[in-house]
Amino acid sequence: MDFTLSEEQLMIQKAARDFAQNELLPGVIERDDAQKFPAEQVKKMSELGFMGMMVDPKYGGSGLDTISYALVMEELSKVDASASVIVSVNNSLVCWGLETFGSEAQKEKYLTRLSTGQCIGAFCLSEPEAGSDATSQKTTAVDHGDHYILNGTKNWITNGNSAEIYLVIAQTDIEKGHKGINALIVEKGMPGFEIGPKENKLGIRGSDTHSLIFNDVKVPKENRIGEDGFGFKFAMKTLAGGRIGIAAQALGIAAGAYELAKKYSKERKAFGTEISNHQAIAFKLADMHTQIEAARHLVYKAAWDKDQGNSYDLSSAMAKLYASQVAMDTTIEAVQIHGGNGFVKDYHVERMMRDAKITQIYEGTSEIQKIVISRSILRE
Ligand code: CAA
Ligand code: FAD
Repeated sequence: MDFTLSEEQLMIQKAARDFAQNELLPGVIERDDAQKFPAEQVKKMSELGFMGMMVDPKYGGSGLDTISYALVMEELSKVDASASVIVSVNNSLVCWGLETFGSEAQKEKYLTRLSTGQCIGAFCLSEPEAGSDATSQKTTAVDHGDHYILNGTKNWITNGNSAEIYLVIAQTDIEKGHKGINALIVEKGMPGFEIGPKENKLGIRGSDTHSLIFNDVKVPKENRIGEDGFGFKFAMKTLAGGRIGIAAQALGIAAGAYELAKKYSKERKAFGTEISNHQAIAFKLADMHTQIEAARHLVYKAAWDKDQGNSYDLSSAMAKLYASQVAMDTTIEAVQIHGGNGFVKDYHVERMMRDAKITQIYEGTSEIQKIVISRSILRE
């Protein structure tokens, strides 16, 4: 067993760490306050190859492995989880889904633009009545021979307004249940496609989350991904990899908050000594460090499974379940270690605590991860 990162992985990790410190940290508090999408930072991340990390270079990608992707997600998320979710959706839901299941023509038309960051993508599964219960799709894509007519509403879509290319899951044949669902590539500007207002959120406020409304949108049949009825499996298979990205995001939020708390505890004095000399604080740091390291092992293991061609439904669900809990627990303790300063914006940890919560909700809630895990272990 070898836990050593390769030279290339260490290099990409350092590039992401430097970028996060130099380009994401300045203005992160203001962007959170104003709910400002980090457009300039996304442009710079595209130049660094972070928008299509795992995509084959022949489609403009960086051709990296999933471990490198997780390392980048972790480093970006230590500083700015709003920026990292934009990266995660574009890489593991949109680019990966298109590269793995799209036709050659779809890849030529859309993938290079997405992987080079000329435009960004969105993944549209959730609906007002179909979140965890994802097979209950109400959005319809009615077959009209050479095209589909799309009607319905999607909820909570990350990159909702900033994206130009949307992978939309919709029901074509209700009689067939989940086997009647399709995944369609929809472009911004197609007649009848409207973007709803921006959600005012607790955390990841720099990412833009919108509902999407489809009124008789005509989508050419060549924009369907895979065979007729493959849409639900497309979503599930894509989300299994997406969960590695969100697990790495949760790990990064936890590690970022821990690093700030450790530093603060060695500077802040109370009762004549640094607070890190009080065992109650030192033990909190010990717990945080141990849990973060355990989460890191689960996240890297899931990424490794994917790179090795092993099944990773179970390992990605376990990584997301555990890392998101660690993100929540660690950020709460980081605020506690900062005392009153933890409650004000300048010290970052209150934002991290707010950002951590979403990792237990999106790409499958923690309860849904337990369904995936329990079904998998009971099948064995
Ligand atoms: N790979 C391949 N196929 C899969 C699969 C997987 N990982 N998981 C399920 N399937 C298949 C099943 O085999 C089944 O097909 P067959 O009938 O042919 O065997 C079919 O899909 C239906 O599966 P289930 O019977 O297990 O379906 P279910 O209704 O019980 O639901 C679920 C399963 C795991 C709960 C699923 O609905 C789910 O994952 N829900 C959560 C949805 C989610 O994660 N949404 C995230 C939206 S994107 C997002 O959030 C992005 C962001 O924030 C940034
Ligand atoms: P519900 O499904 O209504 O769940 C409510 C509660 O009930 C949860 O605690 C849930 O765990 C629990 N529950 C439900 N069913 C069960 C069960 N069978 N057993 C036990 N407990 C259960 N979606 C996209 O498609 N694309 C995106 O880009 C995207 N981005 C998002 C960004 C943000 C900021 C947010 C908030 C959401 C985003 N989502 C996105 C949607 C997200 O994936 C859903 O919110 C999530 O899957 C949960 O669905 P729901 O909100 O409908 O909750």
